[in-house]
Amino acid sequence: MTCAVADGGAPLRRAAAGDHDHRGAAGDHDRPGDDHDHRGAAGDHDGRTPATIALLGAGVIGAGWAARFAVHGHDVRVFDPAPDAAQTLERALAAARRAWRRLTLAPLPAQGSVTLAGSVAEAVRGCELVQESAPEREELKRELLAQAAAAAPPHALIASSTSGLLPSRLASDMSGPERFLVAHPFNPVYLLPLVELCGCTQTSPETIRRAARLYRSVAMRPLVLRREIDGFIADRLLEALWREALWLVADEVATTEEIDDAIRFGAGLRWASMGTFLTYRLGGGEAGMRHFMAQFGPALALPWSHLTDVPQLDEELIDRIVRQSDAQAAGRSIAELERIRDDCLVAVLRGLAGERFGAGEVVALAERNLYERAAAAAAPRTLADGRLVLHRALVAPSWIDYNGHMTESRYLEVLADATDAFLREIGILGPYIDTGRSYYTVESHLRHLAEAHAGDRLTVATRLLGHDAKRLHLFHELLSDERPGPIATGEHMLLHVDRAAGRTTPAGEEVLARLQQIADAQRDLPWPDAAGGQVRGPWVPAP
Ligand SMILES: NC(=O)c1ccc[n+]([C@@H]2O[C@H](COP(=O)([O-])OP(=O)(O)OC[C@H]3O[C@@H](n4cnc5c(N)ncnc54)[C@H](O)[C@@H]3O)[C@@H](O)[C@H]2O)c1
Repeated sequence: MTCAVADGGAPLRRAAAGDHDHRGAAGDHDRPGDDHDHRGAAGDHDGRTPATIALLGAGVIGAGWAARFAVHGHDVRVFDPAPDAAQTLERALAAARRAWRRLTLAPLPAQGSVTLAGSVAEAVRGCELVQESAPEREELKRELLAQAAAAAPPHALIASSTSGLLPSRLASDMSGPERFLVAHPFNPVYLLPLVELCGCTQTSPETIRRAARLYRSVAMRPLVLRREIDGFIADRLLEALWREALWLVADEVATTEEIDDAIRFGAGLRWASMGTFLTYRLGGGEAGMRHFMAQFGPALALPWSHLTDVPQLDEELIDRIVRQSDAQAAGRSIAELERIRDDCLVAVLRGLAGERFGAGEVVALAERNLYERAAAAAAPRTLADGRLVLHRALVAPSWIDYNGHMTESRYLEVLADATDAFLREIGILGPYIDTGRSYYTVESHLRHLAEAHAGDRLTVATRLLGHDAKRLHLFHELLSDERPGPIATGEHMLLHVDRAAGRTTPAGEEVLARLQQIADAQRDLPWPDAAGGQVRGPWVPAP
């Protein structure tokens, strides 16, 4: 059965028996029982080549996993008996694509396929990883994991998304438990980087190492537990807060909205970057953590917390919570709230990426990997006519102005990035710049010829119109995949300078040699009509 295409991405389909993936990635030719991974007998995956990931369960979490893996270029095969599994997967994929387009301008790899399988055995055929995300019932999970372990290739990692069940219990019916672990993600899985990894006594260190590597390759931050405990780390912390919050509602101290406000306008903002301990360290001032402990430690003896008790979750309390929660949502649908949540998460992650701190470090690293991967697979850098293509960009939604298209300053930004790419091409790199020499742009003439919209892919074709020892004359054409002809042109004059001396100097011999090579390759190109243009108003007589 072929399902609809979501948001221009890869088709989501239910595989017929014997159906093969379209891409010839890992496991195409594997059959149940095949024990060979063509990338290496140990099955260690580099995370860069597409792998096949088997997912058992495609609810909130399973669909989130599918979206994360597919957005990062892996092929996903899903087993879920629910009749609406395809729709759930499509929704998650669309949300993930939207979120990642907003999160980064770095080029994402070609999206992996997402295929529904008719059985556990079919889903796990030739896979690198089985990720089980079925309902939180121990018996059900044990049986599914045992089936998966029997049918998956022996090298495949087998992971459960359980929020708190002990891995040693989940592994008790499966063959080869040394390759089993819990990999506990957070909702929305396609956006939040944290995944807690928890093995049992049988889990091999190699399994944890391989799993960490694979999850890292899809822009996650694995946190390896030192030993197995119920609830792992994050859910223990979340449950402590949740119990306290339920008591505050039960005791009619606060409404659900007031409790959420207490978090989101205060501590929640600090938690996003620093967590609890680093935040409290700052609370201790210059005297640091010891002072903080001395100052606030005694308060722990006060009977503030109900932590070990649970309020009676009777109908009255549940009704109150539901009523207050409905009021808080103010008529917004779950889909609307999910979109708001994702956009806010993207904003926080983007902000943290600029600081390269906390989860922002993960985003910054993912971006670097995406750029490197794209550069390695880059299309030809020289067009047939000799123009250079050194810079590409994707129009981000935040680049759109009130007129509904790309705002004017972004045209210059993309062209300036193309100029930087040209300078790198001629050797103006770290070691050269460290000698105090560089080029400065001294004049630009920009023409805006057509609109660009969010999601449009832009390419800059660059010509060297002229150069001498100190000057560089560039002409860029900004091209869009969406329409023929340039959407802008930029003409720029640059001077070679000695920064310390504050004056122009001749460029280095090696730079001039590379410039001459480019000039020779572009010698036969006609002079662009628009070059040498200027802004002419009606008050300036035409020459
Ligand atoms: N929801 C969360 O916030 C969250 C966060 C982290 C981890 N988890 C864990 O992830 C797992 C899944 O939770 P969820 O929230 O996605 O639940 P869910 O109810 O949204 O999804 C469960 C899915 O499993 C499917 N399913 C049922 N029986 C199955 C079977 N035999 N084989 C394959 N699929 C089957 C269901 O049809 C459903 O689509 C649970 O272990 C949960 O503890 C949940």
